Amino acid sequence: MKKLYGLLGCPVEHSMSPEMHNDLFTYYGIDGYYHAFHVEAENLGNAVIGLKALNIEGFNVTIPHKVSIMRYLDEIDDIALNIGAVNTVINNNGKLIGYNTDGDGFIKSLETVITKSLSDTKILIIGSGGAARAILISLAAKGAPNIDVSNRTLTSASQLRSECQFKLKGSALSLKEAEENIQQYDVIINTTSVGMHPNIDNIPLSLNKLLPHTVVSDIIYNPLQTSFLIEAARRGAVTLNGVGMFVNQGALAFHKWTGQFPDVNRMEQLVINKLGGHTEC
Ligand code: ATR
Repeated sequence: MKKLYGLLGCPVEHSMSPEMHNDLFTYYGIDGYYHAFHVEAENLGNAVIGLKALNIEGFNVTIPHKVSIMRYLDEIDDIALNIGAVNTVINNNGKLIGYNTDGDGFIKSLETVITKSLSDTKILIIGSGGAARAILISLAAKGAPNIDVSNRTLTSASQLRSECQFKLKGSALSLKEAEENIQQYDVIINTTSVGMHPNIDNIPLSLNKLLPHTVVSDIIYNPLQTSFLIEAARRGAVTLNGVGMFVNQGALAFHKWTGQFPDVNRMEQLVINKLGGHTEC
């Protein structure tokens, strides 16, 4: 009998996860099926009870349920607890265990372009929302202590840093301060929604002082190349768009569910084809 996997979110209609995971099931000869379930916030608890009764093997969780799902799980991994959000759940003989693969998905993608070890890399995270939190805590957990956080609202950046349970150097900065010191970073990561479709001309901060060869990353993938990345590439930076984080969080979930680490290039190609774009700046 087919093993059932899924995604709980609202909205989920445009998610690329079903196509990505179902392609992998076919490719690896796994008798599984992944379905996107549109679940309203007030129905989340009942949805989880229903999926458990149907013996679902595992599922992903997306907006707006990544935090609220936690109360319905039997166990939560330490990193996901510190992040305060779950995006991947395994059903282990009726016990639901929650993980967060967003931050590690980002790191896997980042590791394809950085040349130094994470412990020697000076990083700037722009933004202090849920995505920034997953990335900061996962980077710190993997031994990257040199992380500054810059945000429009400075107090949120300070709070995010103070809630990280792993050792951190660096500080919280205003966007102006980060712009003035942009030349000191090896890696700059935009986690805000600034530049996302339809406001594609906006950039989160000025790159006037950016040095060539800096790695500049944007977790946005619509558009594939944000104005921020285009400007960074114009200044000689190495750029990384949001597709890598998306496919790697999916690859890590697929691995947790099936034991098979999938071909990330295949997943990336499928997503890029679906987005109908080019990855080069
Ligand atoms: P997510 O969970 O996807 O990370 P979020 O929690 O809504 O999203 O966080 C959005 C982040 O983008 C925040 O850091 C927000 O800054 P504030 O804390 O000041 O609100 C940042 N952000 C959103 N719109 C912005 C804008 N127009 N300019 C600068 N920062 C912005």
